[in-house]
Amino acid sequence: MRQISFNQQDTSAIGLGTWRMGEGNAAKNDEELKTIQYALNNGVTLLDTAEIYGDGQSETLIGKAIKGFNRSDFQIISKFAPNHATPKLMKKSLENSLKRLQTDYLDLYLLHWRGSTPLEETIQGLQEVQKAGYIKNWGVSNFDIADLEELSKLPGGSDCRVNEDLYNVGSRGIEYSILPWQKENNMSLVGYSPFGSDGGDYLTIKPVLKDLAKQKNVSVYQLLLAWVIRNRDLLSIPKSSSVEHLKANMAATDIEFTADELELIDSQYPRPNKKTQLEVI
Ligand SMILES: NC(=O)c1ccc[n+]([C@@H]2O[C@H](COP(=O)([O-])OP(=O)(O)OC[C@H]3O[C@@H](n4cnc5c(N)ncnc54)[C@H](OP(=O)(O)O)[C@@H]3O)[C@@H](O)[C@H]2O)c1
Repeated sequence: MRQISFNQQDTSAIGLGTWRMGEGNAAKNDEELKTIQYALNNGVTLLDTAEIYGDGQSETLIGKAIKGFNRSDFQIISKFAPNHATPKLMKKSLENSLKRLQTDYLDLYLLHWRGSTPLEETIQGLQEVQKAGYIKNWGVSNFDIADLEELSKLPGGSDCRVNEDLYNVGSRGIEYSILPWQKENNMSLVGYSPFGSDGGDYLTIKPVLKDLAKQKNVSVYQLLLAWVIRNRDLLSIPKSSSVEHLKANMAATDIEFTADELELIDSQYPRPNKKTQLEVI
């Protein structure tokens, strides 16, 4: 699969999101486990999870799925909740995540969203667990431009490797200042929910996308994903809980757009021309 530079290393153009995975019956869990293993066997080199996903069930599923795989061949992102953002609570959260994931380190550990703990304290906690070897690097999620600027000015804040924000054709706000700022500051971007999440409640599919998908002989989902990663400047992490969906998403990394096609999409899903409040799911 196509590679991008993410977290200062070669990474597959898409990772695998795992929110709401590991929460079903035995048959569903088995299908999801096989999907994770198919991903790792076929060139997907990043898994995204969080302690709050199914109260640890996503991490537990990943832990079972990755047994027997060479850990250094892929990256794992996990996230701690804002009410665990102090050094002491974060360490406990991390120990629990590592236990569930059956691994001894995370590639990236992210603050899931900003809460009331001062960022200085969170940075200190992250530095401690990084020094102890439990995490390779750290980052944040759902940070808006003002949060990123504030973070980068704090001692150690510029070590933040990634920010993970909502990004799809219907939620383009990050293109205005966050994406350019992160590029300039060498911080990788993860764009989450390329399809507008489970159920698609957050994204309206207009006829232009259906028509274009038909013309290009791909599904609307494939078109949405290909659009998110069109500039090769961010990592998208679609959630797929079946091998069928995963294969379709992997194939979407080969879809290219002409300038006219991109303009047509822009006409219906406009580029932001001013700062808007960061959208989150
Ligand atoms: N940092 C954050 O705050 C945050 C917030 C939200 C999400 N995330 C991360 O981002 C990941 C992705 O976002 P998301 O889970 O919200 O939603 P998403 O990836 O936008 O959409 C997932 C939905 O799309 C379906 N789907 C996937 N591939 C498909 C295909 N080729 N054709 C048709 N349907 C397809 C999935 O069905 P199946 O499940 O049946 O395959 C599922 O219903 C999450 O899993 C999580 O890891 C992070």
